[in-house]
Amino acid sequence: MSSIERAARVVKTLKDEEWKTLAALERVSMGQGAADAGRLARASRQPVDRVEFALERLELGGLVKRSGANFGPTVMAVEALGIREYVKHELVSALGAIIAKGKESDVYEAFDDYGATYALKFFKLGRTSFTRVRKKRFIDRSGVKSWMALNYEAARREYSTLRRLEGLSPSFPKALSSNRSTVLLEELSGVKLSNRPALETPMEVLGTILEAARVAYLSAGVVNGDLSEYNILTDGVKAWLIDWPQAVTTRHPNADDLLRHDVGSVVRFFARAYRTAVSGGKAVAFVTGGSESFA
Ligand SMILES: Nc1ncnc2c1ncn2[C@@H]1O[C@H](COP(=O)(O)OP(=O)(O)OP(=O)(O)O)[C@@H](O)[C@H]1O
Ligand SMILES: [Mg+2]
Repeated sequence: MSSIERAARVVKTLKDEEWKTLAALERVSMGQGAADAGRLARASRQPVDRVEFALERLELGGLVKRSGANFGPTVMAVEALGIREYVKHELVSALGAIIAKGKESDVYEAFDDYGATYALKFFKLGRTSFTRVRKKRFIDRSGVKSWMALNYEAARREYSTLRRLEGLSPSFPKALSSNRSTVLLEELSGVKLSNRPALETPMEVLGTILEAARVAYLSAGVVNGDLSEYNILTDGVKAWLIDWPQAVTTRHPNADDLLRHDVGSVVRFFARAYRTAVSGGKAVAFVTGGSESFA
């Protein structure tokens, strides 16, 4: 069972004082403070004996790691805090199967009580080095901080970009919510374009993708920065541009280079996989508003 699946189970079993202790541990660790029981008692406004008891149970459950008198949250703790927030707000009531396991994130199906299905993305940047640190049974507080901060920031950035893009094109996934290292997304039914699925009209799908990149650029002032056949899903007719944590605004000094790279990747992939003949230069001019068509 993955740590995310274990986190989803644990969410149903933790007691109020354990949540309070965990939330305090998260705050203190984020601020790079040393998190001993006394500090956590003050931060969570609980008696120290309660906190000590909670920490013991959390440690047994794999949610905290001890290093001398200090404690640090595990990856699973961060995932549990994230899931709990959705459960509390009735956005999610159960976690389903894993949809995709990537280098930078794991994406799971998630359900609410009303029959809707979502894609719940958990960022896991730097997790391997974090695990290495953990294995030594030594918790480097700055290491924990950087792992947490990195993933919280990635989730925040992806969510804010998707909110900025919302409603501008049907080719952007809707983001419903975000917290900690997670983003709750509309579930898309497509497959990755890199699998080279049969497309009804390749040229039209390419047009849909360039249109979406154009509206992101012209109306939202956003460049994806990592667009390629690996970050596009399609059902053969429609296409969706996913994976936005690294997006930059058009004012970013590298925005134009990134845009040329994004558009070039897509155009070259379509040429290789679907034999379309579109010039990269014309496609870039179309996306940046210099021309009204790319054909
Ligand atoms: N909204 C969604 N609906 C359905 N599946 C999704 C959704 N978002 C992402 N996925 C699936 O999860 C995979 C990874 O998503 P994404 O590209 O956003 O993350 P990543 O961190 O770049 O992962 P990777 O390291 O695999 O590139 C996608 O290729 C896709 O299969
Ligand atoms: Mg990706």
